[in-house]
Amino acid sequence: MIITRRTLLGVAAAIACATAIPAFAAKPLTIGFSQVGAESEWRTANTASIKDAAKKAGVTLKFADAQQQQQNQVKAIRSFIAQHVDVIAFSPVVETGWETVLREAKNAKIPVILTDRAVKVTDPSLYVSFIGSDFVEEGRRAGRWLLDYDKKNGGKPLNIVELQGTTGAAPAIDRKTGFAEVIAANPKLKIIRSQTGDFTRAKGKEVMEAFLKSEGKNINVLYAHNDDMAIGAIQAIEEAGLKPGKDIIVISIDGVKGAFEAMKAGKLNVTVECNPLLGPTLIQTAQDVVAGKPVPKRIVVNEGVFPAEVAAKELPNRKY
Ligand code: AHR
Repeated sequence: MIITRRTLLGVAAAIACATAIPAFAAKPLTIGFSQVGAESEWRTANTASIKDAAKKAGVTLKFADAQQQQQNQVKAIRSFIAQHVDVIAFSPVVETGWETVLREAKNAKIPVILTDRAVKVTDPSLYVSFIGSDFVEEGRRAGRWLLDYDKKNGGKPLNIVELQGTTGAAPAIDRKTGFAEVIAANPKLKIIRSQTGDFTRAKGKEVMEAFLKSEGKNINVLYAHNDDMAIGAIQAIEEAGLKPGKDIIVISIDGVKGAFEAMKAGKLNVTVECNPLLGPTLIQTAQDVVAGKPVPKRIVVNEGVFPAEVAAKELPNRKY
């Protein structure tokens, strides 16, 4: 076939017709997502899950990292409103202080979905759905494991130090509440020190060093609100010449690979799972909201408890 300029123009026109978006095709969805930060292994997995799910669904994701600062999240939400995104999603760094900005989103008719962490607002219509774990139950699971451990080990009095998550964050408040509620059943279990480690390894290590300095060998148990702080604290315990997992029982929350490795090495006794793979549910919920379908106000994630005895077997199955 002889290719003339006219044939080329004809082919170009045919391609243009075939690839043009028909007038009735749905506009691709745009979601503005404000992430807490990159403070932990859990958070990294959570971000990857959301980005990956958006990509797979052909959703445009405007991603903003708040670096653990509420003011950055408020700024990001206002910018998403100004950009007229279809849905705003965010994982709130702290529980309170959202009423004004969420009302601005509501007035702009942009639905808001909460992922991972909850907010405390007087008007629940300020968000359409909250997808995430039951943090109080996670704290209870950690507490139940300790009650059980103590029972199996002769019911000795145990002094506990607690590394709390970010002050004012839902998982820090709820995990403290759930744990305290359960261990109250045994008056021999006492929390002797409790301080924030901001969900990071560096802070977890620093605060544990301070606990060890003031309490020394008085400490029997460490309860950390996440694996990263526990891993930082394990380092502090070793540097103090003690054996984590033996001299000091270590309990934490998340179930990241780092925790499974620490359990395999005998340095961590148990991790309570908190599932970060929320991306597919978030994207599906956003699509349903925009399509006008009813969505559940609360979507709770299923999770387990992994003691050190199962770590080696479970590690190869872990997805984060
Ligand atoms: O909100 C979930 C918590 O935040 C995770 O337990 C912790 O690792 C993260 O930083």
